Amino acid sequence: MSIAPVPRVCVIVVAAGSGTRLGAGAPKAFVGLDEHTILRHALSGVFAAPLAQVVIVAPVGREGAALTDALETAGDRRDLVSVVTGGATRQDSVAAGLHAVWPDVEVVLVHDAARALTPPAVFERVIAAVGIDAPGVIPVTPVVDTIKRVAGADVIAAVDRAELAAAQTPQGFDRAVLDAAYRRADQDFTDDAALVAAAGHRVAVVEGDPRAFKITTPADLERARGLVAPLPVAPSVSLNAAPMMPRVGLGTDVHGFGGEGALWLAGLEWPGEQALSGHSDGDAVAHAIVDALLAAAGLGDIGTHFGTDHPEYAGAHAEVFLRRTLGLLGEAGWRVGNVSVQVQANRPRFSARRAEAESVLSAALGGASVSLSATTTDGLGFTGRGEGVAAFAVALLVPA
Ligand code: CTP
Ligand code: MG
Repeated sequence: MSIAPVPRVCVIVVAAGSGTRLGAGAPKAFVGLDEHTILRHALSGVFAAPLAQVVIVAPVGREGAALTDALETAGDRRDLVSVVTGGATRQDSVAAGLHAVWPDVEVVLVHDAARALTPPAVFERVIAAVGIDAPGVIPVTPVVDTIKRVAGADVIAAVDRAELAAAQTPQGFDRAVLDAAYRRADQDFTDDAALVAAAGHRVAVVEGDPRAFKITTPADLERARGLVAPLPVAPSVSLNAAPMMPRVGLGTDVHGFGGEGALWLAGLEWPGEQALSGHSDGDAVAHAIVDALLAAAGLGDIGTHFGTDHPEYAGAHAEVFLRRTLGLLGEAGWRVGNVSVQVQANRPRFSARRAEAESVLSAALGGASVSLSATTTDGLGFTGRGEGVAAFAVALLVPA
């Protein structure tokens, strides 16, 4: 895993509306512009903007689809993404998103997924301006039409265009100001800027962009479809796009004694020894190696690929896990350089079977070098008390 800086900005992308005026038969954010949804296009603008936490607010039942769109767009920013369920009004949806903002975030942008083609530069302008002259900043475009005030069929007055601007999103706010304004809000406002202004705060403007128009009606959808350029495809994990350098990974695992049947450890069956408990066979040595290998490749961890939601791995032994891991590494362009694993346990005694364990583990990893050491902990800790075993593995991967 790479160490990413903690972002000071969060973008809440509200996508929980139903799209009544569009009438496309699906929630608006999930209507296609080309082969990709409105939401996915919106997110590609968000991820092209400066580093930020991204909270997507999705309609009930569409959270999984929203996450899929996000992960396919996020590239190496996947760790910054979360999805929450929206509410009955846009304001409720923003409030739901606000609850998911990380503690360290100082600036929150609220963005309509329906403004799918908003260029990244608009995000940059808003982020740069928050807190300079005002705690709230909104992008605006000039009003080009002549505006009249009407009552029924009659024109009452002309309105001076110079005094008007059309508000867009993302709207950016000092986080504490937005949080407090949302806590106080007791009526529905047309947008976040109105809510913050009603709480007594200044809101400043920056230049918006005509491409940030909101897709509201079928005509807007047609216009957006005419404007979309093909999206670049982000690699699912950028680390794996073209491995160039060797990479190391660390994995640890612990299992307690108390399972059913025979003990399985380091890929070997140990007749007469007490079994370990776990979803699979409790083989802490194999699991630590799998975690080290996946970590080195940036492919998540054992839970990502072999968790309890994969019933096919219940009771499986080391060889199954290691072979599958080797397959994942191969697909990502890696081969195993070597693995070093240490087991801490009072029992079983490894000295007589160490070479056997190394060769079983090595065979499951396509012949890669695996070295295993075993130690006791001088009677200390849970391993010293004989309650379970712990294993620690380091793996080196090299480009295939
Ligand atoms: N939105 C939301 N939760 C709601 C309502 C709206 O997250 N309960 C989001 C929409 O998904 C959209 C943005 O707020 O991205 C702007 O709202 P709007 O354009 O009005 O979208 P819809 O409410 O979906 O459309 P309509 O009003 O035509 O039903
Ligand atoms: Mg609406």
